[in-house]
Amino acid sequence: MSEVSVTKDAAPAADALVVLKKVNKHFGALHVLQDIDLTIARGEVVVVIGPSGSGKSTLCRTINRLETTESGSISIDGRPLPQEGRELARLRADVGMVFQSFNLFAHKTVLENVTLGQVKVRRKDRKEAEATARTLLDRVGVGAQADKYPAQLSGGQQQRVAIARALAMDPKVMLFDEPTSALDPEMINEVLEVMQQLARDGMTMVVVTHEMGFARSAANRVVFMADGRIVEEARPDQFFNNPRSDRAKDFLSKILHH
Ligand SMILES: Nc1ncnc2c1ncn2[C@@H]1O[C@H](COP(=O)(O)OP(=O)(O)OP(=O)(O)O)[C@@H](O)[C@H]1O
Ligand SMILES: [Mg+2]
Repeated sequence: MSEVSVTKDAAPAADALVVLKKVNKHFGALHVLQDIDLTIARGEVVVVIGPSGSGKSTLCRTINRLETTESGSISIDGRPLPQEGRELARLRADVGMVFQSFNLFAHKTVLENVTLGQVKVRRKDRKEAEATARTLLDRVGVGAQADKYPAQLSGGQQQRVAIARALAMDPKVMLFDEPTSALDPEMINEVLEVMQQLARDGMTMVVVTHEMGFARSAANRVVFMADGRIVEEARPDQFFNNPRSDRAKDFLSKILHH
C-alpha cells in the first residue's frame, strides 16, 4: 500500500465523535468532496492541510451543514446530521466554528457577542450567560475588552473573542478554518496559543491551517487533502518527515521552502 492511513493509537472506534462516511459533494461539475471517510475521536486534534481549492473549507462546512451533501453520512456523537429542521439547529450548536474573518456582530459589544447565543440557542438565563462569557473572555485573554465593540479591538483580539463565542455554546467539537490567515504576523501567536491551550484541555478540534508549527505541536493527526480527496493521513512527525504520496511531497516542498 502506498497511502496507508494512520490514525492515532489512542482512538478507539467506540470513542468516535465525528464520523464521515463516503461523503460526496459537487459544485456543478466540480466534484469537490470525493468519498470522504474521516473519523475524529473525542479529544483528538486533526489538522487539515492541502492546496488551495482542495476542499478543506467545504469539508468543514459540511460537518456543520453549512453545505449540504449528496451522498454519504455524517454523524456527531452517534447521531446522524439531519439535512434541515430543528434537530439540525440543535446538532449544529454542538459544533463550534471559527472562520478566517472573525464574523463578530459589529453593533454588539464583546460581552454581548459571547452572551447572545447562550441565551437565544442554549436558553440560558442572561446573568448566567454573562458570567460564562466573562470567564471565557478571561480565558482567551480579552476579559478587559468586554465592554468594547469589535472594531475597537485588534484582529488577534477579535479572533479570540470569536473563539470565546464559539466555546460559550459548549460545543462538542470546534472547527477552525484558517483562523490566523487574516491576521498580522504579530497577532498570529496569541491566537495559536489559545488554540494550543484548548487542545491541551482536551477539546476535539478540526483545524484548517497553514501554520505548520501548530500542526507539528498540537495535532494528533494531519489530514492531507488534494482535489477533493483525503490523499494521506498520518501523525504529524510521520507526515512532515516522511510524506508518502507525491502530492504531499510536492505540497510540503512548496510551503516549507518558499
Ligand atoms: N459555493 C461555491 N460554489 C461553487 N464552487 C465553490 C463554492 N465553494 C467552493 N467552491 C469551489 O470548490 C473548490 C473547493 O473549495 P474550498 O473553499 O473548499 O477549498 P479550500 O481547500 O478551502 O481552498 P483554500 O485553501 O483556498 O481556502 C474550489 O475549486 C472552489 O472554487
Ligand atoms: Mg478554504
